[in-house]
Amino acid sequence: MQRRGLVIGNWKMNGTLLFTQELACAVRDGVLERIGQQRLSCDLVLCPPFTGLSVARHALSEAPVGLGGQNMSDAVSGPYTGEISGAMLRDVGCSHVLLGHSERRTLFGEENAGIARKMAAAFQEGLQPVICLGETLQERTAERTLEVIRTQWMALVPAILAAAEPHPPWILAYEPVWAIGTGRHATPDQIQEVHGFIRQQLSDHLGATVASRVQILYGGSVTPANAAAIFAQQDVDGGLIGGASLAAATFLAIADAYPKHVSIEE
Ligand code: PGA
Repeated sequence: MQRRGLVIGNWKMNGTLLFTQELACAVRDGVLERIGQQRLSCDLVLCPPFTGLSVARHALSEAPVGLGGQNMSDAVSGPYTGEISGAMLRDVGCSHVLLGHSERRTLFGEENAGIARKMAAAFQEGLQPVICLGETLQERTAERTLEVIRTQWMALVPAILAAAEPHPPWILAYEPVWAIGTGRHATPDQIQEVHGFIRQQLSDHLGATVASRVQILYGGSVTPANAAAIFAQQDVDGGLIGGASLAAATFLAIADAYPKHVSIEE
């Protein structure tokens, strides 16, 4: 079988409406050009801030580029000042939602149980959740990386098992906290070790077929210079790109680094 490659741009808290319009149009033009030349080797999703979703949706309308929220509430509606629901993300045209990004975990106190509830809510709304997992530098130095990843993963399993079928595909993103926005990416070997471990966890808990289908992205200081070596790893199915997604040329150059015609043995 073949897992499609996927490169997601996480714009974080950046961008006026004008910036959003210009960047989304530039990505659209680059995607349409590559499709015309039959050289687009992966899918693309943009995650602008909530205020830019509508403008981005409009700018992307002619191109097969997905749209995602950077976070969502686990509640459906009601008195939750400042929150955005999955239904609202669907309404504005989102197909995906990032959940459990390390900035949400460390700066806003999000925990594994709440992230699992958000995942269940995303399934209910027909959104594809992209759940971020990753260790801090302190945890890596203490050789606790795999234990931390396992704990974060295990918190999701009940939500996945309880989700009514059919539900949208879900995606995992390994993002070592020490590599995010630091210019210091994990080495391809470090990345493959964790991605292989995650794939094994998927297989142990959900079976080999599910494990072979789930896309596992890497995020943390991915650039056009390092993307090819990272994407060449067996269990890497694309990237979650922060800083380098804020310019169309670098974002598209990262997508161009995704290998063509990758076939995965089932
Ligand atoms: P970065 O961010 O590419 O700027 O390191 C990645 C992310 O936080 O998703």
